[in-house]
Amino acid sequence: MCGIIAYIGPEEALPRLLEGLKRLEYRGYDSAGVALVDESGIWTRREVGRVAGLVRKAVDPPHATVGIAHTRWATHGGVTLANTHPHMDGPERIAVVHNGIIENMDALKAQLEAEGVEFRSETDTEVLPHLIRRHYKGDPLQAVRSALAHVHGSYGIAVAFAEHPDLLIAARFGSPLVIGLGDGETVLASDPQAIVAHTRRVLYLDDREVALITAEGASVQRLDGGEVDRDVSLIEADYGVADLAGHPHFMSKEIWEQPESLRRCLRGRIQREHGNAKLGGLNMSPRDLVNVREVVTVGCGTAFHAGMVGSMAIEHLARIPARAEVASEFRNRHPIIGPDTLYFAVSQSGETADTLGAIEEIQVKGGQVMGVVNVVGSTIARTCGAGTYVYAGPEIAVASTKAFTSQVTAMLVFTLMLARTRNLSLAQGEGMAEALLTAPDKVSEYLADPGPIDAAVELVKDARYCLFMGRGFSYPVALEGALKLKEITYVPCEAYPAGEMKHGPIAMLEKGTPVIVVAPRGSQRDKVISNIKEVEARGAKCIIIHTQGDEELARLAAVSIPVPDVREFVSPLVTVLPLQLLAYKVGLALGRDIDKPRNLAKSVTVE
Ligand code: F6R
Repeated sequence: MCGIIAYIGPEEALPRLLEGLKRLEYRGYDSAGVALVDESGIWTRREVGRVAGLVRKAVDPPHATVGIAHTRWATHGGVTLANTHPHMDGPERIAVVHNGIIENMDALKAQLEAEGVEFRSETDTEVLPHLIRRHYKGDPLQAVRSALAHVHGSYGIAVAFAEHPDLLIAARFGSPLVIGLGDGETVLASDPQAIVAHTRRVLYLDDREVALITAEGASVQRLDGGEVDRDVSLIEADYGVADLAGHPHFMSKEIWEQPESLRRCLRGRIQREHGNAKLGGLNMSPRDLVNVREVVTVGCGTAFHAGMVGSMAIEHLARIPARAEVASEFRNRHPIIGPDTLYFAVSQSGETADTLGAIEEIQVKGGQVMGVVNVVGSTIARTCGAGTYVYAGPEIAVASTKAFTSQVTAMLVFTLMLARTRNLSLAQGEGMAEALLTAPDKVSEYLADPGPIDAAVELVKDARYCLFMGRGFSYPVALEGALKLKEITYVPCEAYPAGEMKHGPIAMLEKGTPVIVVAPRGSQRDKVISNIKEVEARGAKCIIIHTQGDEELARLAAVSIPVPDVREFVSPLVTVLPLQLLAYKVGLALGRDIDKPRNLAKSVTVE
């Protein structure tokens, strides 16, 4: 969602802030701004649209070595220059950038207006600089603390004061902030991605904490008083830097990276000779696993789909009840939390507000929840305290691709561990381990020859409606394929379990409607053939994803896309690939903004 970057040190702040904003672009935004502080006051530039526009506008800056900057994704108030951050107090001596939502904005605004404050924007954020001004008596830290005592909602903020060009103040409640400790310089950001170019030594701010930041470092305190002794964390050396590596878009780079990201996810985790696996971060012995009576995954969007695959595998292979829940529904419906249930919170960013809310609900009710997270050190990883990283590396394109296959892989590794404590023999465990270990090669094999995707693009790109369908393990894949197509291309589509299709969506079919069928070899294949015949009888044209060598399905298809032969539980890792490529290539054909689709943000940090 919105991004924050702030710099204080010996160097010119502006180029560092603009470069940081570029690194945050992938999160999604619609306007951007920067504020620099020097003895004479605060200099700002703001622009609606891309950071490139702000760069063009930010000319003739003063010499300043401290500043704050922001990419905004509109929530309160339209996408206008007036609403773009930073926002300032009346005399323009205090500047604030903010991620999150101030829920009692109306009441605070009314009070401030009654005191004579004139607002310049429609944003909730603007109450903050005015409120901080009201509480400012010469001590900037105290002013921020006192102001935030009146605020309800969520925030990650950076505040600059013209009277104090040697410091910045940051505070957090519900919106992530991380402080990078460099050599004589300090960088604050909402995302480690904006920090890795400067330093790998970081301090994570927790909720209800405030930091006084100088070029020498940061002191962290609780908002209600009291020092916090926060250990310095190290961002992993292979955190990765977001460059395109010769690809035209991050989405294509990330699709083609999947053999490597899956190898990273599996590395050191499969014990082939024991037909078993180990996810060290779970810290669970076989005895602990035996006591698990049920597994529930929570997540949003793609992460929910990965949770669906994981829970199906657990039910199928470990033979215990398992289900996937949409985090926003789960957290708000006062769920029953089983004492013997193991919960997994699946999240690429580790910052998704609804998933975090679900975790808090599980923890409040005494449940055990583990993270399945990509971003190391993210809020979800730290809130869960235990879990597993999926090691997909930085995912920059808004639409998730490699994170999905890594989340599925991590859940399958867990399935193997769990199943071995139940009815999976050594020999069966060996077979499962082998199927997992060879999955990255199968992904490579497919990507080396992806089949007639361009023919599928021709059928889909001008369609008024498309239907995706699959059964069993292929149903979440169909959902994921439709989500990708919607996100990247805006082509209207939906996904259904193939057996449910005749209970409604079949009415949408007309001559030429593209139906994308996910039908690999396995227990559900024959039933899907009947569904294919039903839709073709209504004039639909089927794009069929099937196992190599399945001539019967190839003959039924208007476009036949073969994928390598793998065990059924591994099939989502290969069947999702043509669907990712289809969305990507339809997006290209329609001239869409592939990496930054309209209205979307990479990390959804508001409810
Ligand atoms: C889909 C997509 C979203 C995310 C969802 C959860 O391409 O990117 O649906 O999967 O917002 O995000 P994380 O995994 O960061 O919790």
